[in-house]
Amino acid sequence: MQIFDKIIDLKSFLREQRAQNKSIGFVPTMGALHAGHLALIEQSNAANDITVCSIYVNPTQFNNPNDLAKYPRTFKADVELLGQYDQCVVFAPQDFEMYPEKPHLVFDFGNLELVMEGKFRPGHFNGVAIVVAKLFHIVHPNRAYFGQKDLQQCLIVKQLVKDLSFDLELIICPTVRESDNLAMSSRNLRMDAEDRALAGQIPQILFMARDLVLANRDFPNIKKTVEDAFAKLPIQLEYFQITNADTLLNINTRDEAKRIALCIAAYLGDVRLIDNIIIE
Ligand code: PAJ
Repeated sequence: MQIFDKIIDLKSFLREQRAQNKSIGFVPTMGALHAGHLALIEQSNAANDITVCSIYVNPTQFNNPNDLAKYPRTFKADVELLGQYDQCVVFAPQDFEMYPEKPHLVFDFGNLELVMEGKFRPGHFNGVAIVVAKLFHIVHPNRAYFGQKDLQQCLIVKQLVKDLSFDLELIICPTVRESDNLAMSSRNLRMDAEDRALAGQIPQILFMARDLVLANRDFPNIKKTVEDAFAKLPIQLEYFQITNADTLLNINTRDEAKRIALCIAAYLGDVRLIDNIIIE
């Protein structure tokens, strides 16, 4: 499998592929790959001749330096996992390649970046938007694949594509879950066995909330039921929001949005987990 660490080399490889009319799919990641990432790669492989998987722990999206330092780096294992896919090439740049200078660019995504992850992780989405925009310019893909697990990130990238007229198709892939329905995440490995067993309660409570929405229970009541369920557990709920799945504006009744997203963030010890469900 080809691994590129220089922008110029990746670009020249991709130029040759495009000249042969090959389509390019793109899966940006920060490595520590798991089955959730691989599902995106497989979806890209099915629709494109080449899949570029970027592995880059982007410093500009970490508002907490400790989080950045602790982010798992498993490059060798990642490359082994990707080696099973003939169509896949890796782009793994160093920091100086992506950021020869500190970027000054500031985005404004309005409400999309003020709620949920944006509220609790200030500056996070600006960093995501900068790196994704740079990567889109470098890879120039026909299609780019993102996971619904990070719903807010998907909406930010959708806005970015629109505002900057990126000529690509954005594809949102369903959340891949563990056998107890916990959304797959590199952070799951940071929990001890006891916390990991408890973490299965997060999707369980989320699914319960979905059933209550489908049963037309009123939203303040559903919120209270969710908060009460967490209050009984050693899991610290950070937020539970019932929102419009396209704008992330809070809603109070079902008819206020075509698609509803139930979004959750919670801590088990110092491990922060997020999840969401969309009700069409
Ligand atoms: P990372 O957390 O590595 O995730 C890379 C992609 O995998 C994202 O689109 C994410 O939503 C998706 N993903 C993660 N867990 C998933 C799961 N359980 N099921 C389905 N998809 C899942 O998200 C980032 O990296 C970064 O912010 C990035 C976009 C690469 C920019 O730096």
